[in-house]
Amino acid sequence: MADKKRVGVLISGRGSNMEALAEYKRIADPAYSIVLVASNVPEARGLVVARRFGIETWAHSHKGMERAEFDRMMDEELRRHDVEVIALAGYMRLLSPEFIARWRGRILNIHPSLLPLYKGLDTHRRALVAGEQHAGCSVHVVTEDLDDGPVISQAKVKILPRDTPESLAERVLAEEHKLYPAALDKFCRELN
Ligand code: GAR
Repeated sequence: MADKKRVGVLISGRGSNMEALAEYKRIADPAYSIVLVASNVPEARGLVVARRFGIETWAHSHKGMERAEFDRMMDEELRRHDVEVIALAGYMRLLSPEFIARWRGRILNIHPSLLPLYKGLDTHRRALVAGEQHAGCSVHVVTEDLDDGPVISQAKVKILPRDTPESLAERVLAEEHKLYPAALDKFCRELN
């Protein structure tokens, strides 16, 4: 495919979803190409993984910086790489309203719950405590409100009687790795 959308992935940690996004080109011809992996955590493991894939990385600690100031710096870096779409993949920091406004409709996020249920942190434990039959994951467009923008794709995972937050997280993560690349691919294909 000729004109692939240039994607910047933001991570804060392990980066397994970023890896799944990067791996996808082995099994498909996605409408996106990852041109930058950026992080607010310089020691994030995902940065090492990205470099192994030959993807350019950028990292800067947000500590001691105003949110808007940090986001402006990251925005400059994304623009320097001609990024067109941003994929949050375990980026565990709120984005400033200014940043979201500049990238409106072009930021996706993956969240480990069946949104609108269980926004925020600790989703698996909360789903278990509530006695849910199913958990899952959602890909959504990012808006100013936390985990709130339009959902574009979801996968359900059955909760088993002996599930712990950890065992559930593991099965949901396996679904995340399938859901996110396909959702990002479709999103990029349909974007003008
Ligand atoms: C994933 O489960 C992702 O859905 C979640 O953090 C994990 C990151 O793992 N994201 C959020 O909770 C965002 N609200 P990864 O770094 O291995 O992709």
